[in-house]
Amino acid sequence: MELEEAKKKIIELSERLHHYNYMYYVKSESLVSDYDFDMLLKELEALEDCFPSLVASNSPSKRVGGVVVKNFETVKHRFPMLSLSNSYSKEEIIEWEERIKKTIEQDIEYVCELKYDGVAIGVRYVNGAFHSAVTRGDGTQGELVSENVKTIKSIPLRLNGEFPIDFEIRGEIFLPLLEFDRLNIERASSDLPLFANPRNTASGTLKLQDSSVVSKRNLDCYLYGINEERSSYDSHYQAVANAELMGFKTPSSRQRKIEKVKNVEGILSFIDFWDSQRKKLPFEIDGIVIKVNSYLQQEELGYTAKSPRWAIAYKFKAERAETKINHVSYQVGRTGAITPVANLNPVYLGGTTVKRASLHNAEQIDKLNLHDQDMVYVEKGGEIIPKIVGVNLSKRQSASKKVHFITLCPSCQSVLYKGDGEAQHYCRNSSACPPQIKGKIEHFISRKAMDIDGLGAETIDALVENGLIKDIGDLYALKFEQLIDLERMADKSVNNLLQGIETSKNQPFEKVLFGMGIRYVGETVSKKLAKAFKTMDQIIAAPYDSLVDTDEIGEKIAQSIREFIDNEHNLSLIQKLKNAGLVFEKEEETLSSSFLEAQTIVISGTFEIYSRNEMKKLIESNGGKNGSSISKKTNLLVAGANMGPSKLKKATDLGIEIVDENEFLKRIKHD
Ligand code: IVH
Repeated sequence: MELEEAKKKIIELSERLHHYNYMYYVKSESLVSDYDFDMLLKELEALEDCFPSLVASNSPSKRVGGVVVKNFETVKHRFPMLSLSNSYSKEEIIEWEERIKKTIEQDIEYVCELKYDGVAIGVRYVNGAFHSAVTRGDGTQGELVSENVKTIKSIPLRLNGEFPIDFEIRGEIFLPLLEFDRLNIERASSDLPLFANPRNTASGTLKLQDSSVVSKRNLDCYLYGINEERSSYDSHYQAVANAELMGFKTPSSRQRKIEKVKNVEGILSFIDFWDSQRKKLPFEIDGIVIKVNSYLQQEELGYTAKSPRWAIAYKFKAERAETKINHVSYQVGRTGAITPVANLNPVYLGGTTVKRASLHNAEQIDKLNLHDQDMVYVEKGGEIIPKIVGVNLSKRQSASKKVHFITLCPSCQSVLYKGDGEAQHYCRNSSACPPQIKGKIEHFISRKAMDIDGLGAETIDALVENGLIKDIGDLYALKFEQLIDLERMADKSVNNLLQGIETSKNQPFEKVLFGMGIRYVGETVSKKLAKAFKTMDQIIAAPYDSLVDTDEIGEKIAQSIREFIDNEHNLSLIQKLKNAGLVFEKEEETLSSSFLEAQTIVISGTFEIYSRNEMKKLIESNGGKNGSSISKKTNLLVAGANMGPSKLKKATDLGIEIVDENEFLKRIKHD
């Protein structure tokens, strides 16, 4: 394809993708299927690969990230990024409004908005194109995080309609609650520490070096203000309404996420509404922001050193209660991690009775300077697990002793260990410490691992307590007579369980690997390991370096795998599981069928899951014929990455069906 033609095609594809993206992420309307969208994006990427000089810095292909920035550049804000003065009571709001009325003698309109609990961002647009994005930093200068911000789909890369030539729009980047939960579920399954709350996760994500990881976290953004050398608008409300027309995600007045009011009653009513409704929002807010609407009036009111006089934040009270600590207990996780837990006098907080709160680790106990029987403040931070935020020192008993973190495992009395730079203490007696054994069994039988039904936590307890099981390998030696004697087990349930254990022997290698519960080896890493090394023996033989060279496996994971394998006990456990008949090899993947009979298939570009040769073999073993070039005889084109645009064009012209790798594998029922 000629340069000019490619240029036209790239522009056309970009326009379409920008539009679909805007409709989906800002307007919540899906115009094309995910598959069609991906195919258009792939087509654009293939063209951009062939014509690198035509890649625009605001191309829709930037949404998937890929740029790695080692150190973010510090840049000076063109307009200082101020903060808001906070108020915690309605009286303060009433006083603020009275002060405003003293300065401004005409009618005043206020705009009430949500105070999004995320990270502030300033995004600059020049001639309608995304130019750069800077974090708040110290308010005078911030970090340039453009590549990461470009992956946030609700932030346009190119504007619609009319827009100022050069302006900065400010907003708040946040992590929707559903995404936060999804991320933590994923992390739990990989045995990674959970993120504490959506705000810190959003802020940490924005500073990640690899923008493709940012892209997968699905951050979102609401825009709340425009800054220009000379304003194009008369009022804040008008600016927000125009931002919406340009394609930004702005609060909707129909949903009462933004409201123009005329007096303090209107402000208070907005506050009351959201104080009661905020739990229903799919993201977190920590208050309400009230702004004087008219820019002229804003100017008249001016600024203090830190914040504008024309705006104020009303902060919701964090739900907090005071109660007594009865004692601190310590939980042992399946990997041996020790978590201190505060056992509290039950207290009602935000709709539930709280009896326990996590104290996280030894450092947290020290920070709180916690003493026995202290009266503590418990808060529901981000509506997750309640946490202890402080101690009421005025109620401390003079004789009470400081809480010291334990030195021995509460269950097996082994000496605890804490690695350099790690927050958590560990019990390293993994093979004989009962809660670790139980936790490992629970993980092993879970649905995503060996999927063995009929074995609840109580039965596992009984099996371990009665010495019938010492590790996951012993599951496969269980006999009917041993199980029927346990409480709550009848003929039928025992048979079901034994059947479940037997069936689990067919679980594929990656599930077995995941079930073994190696620290940091979650579902995805297990799949990558199985694919790269094919057999357990190969993994055992793999030196650290070749583990680190594997896709998605970093130093921490590689080290953890080596530690696991270097432990004699684990090696004999693997042997035990092998003897029981579990699968320790990745199944040969060449499915044979006559699914593609009489079809000529052309593959082009490179693929993620299989090599080109493997793809060709797959085609043959499914009855298809590999075509070398596209012709009228071609039935299907499997398009990989970096595929030449001429092939793509030819296939399109001839009306040949084009699918990507995943779709192809799906069709031959292979994933
Ligand atoms: S207006 C001059 N509006 O709250 C200050 N800020 O301390 C202009 N925030 O860092 C800020 N929601 O990131 C404004 N609707 C909203 C907001 C909002 C959240 C954040 C903002 C700022 C902090 C204020």
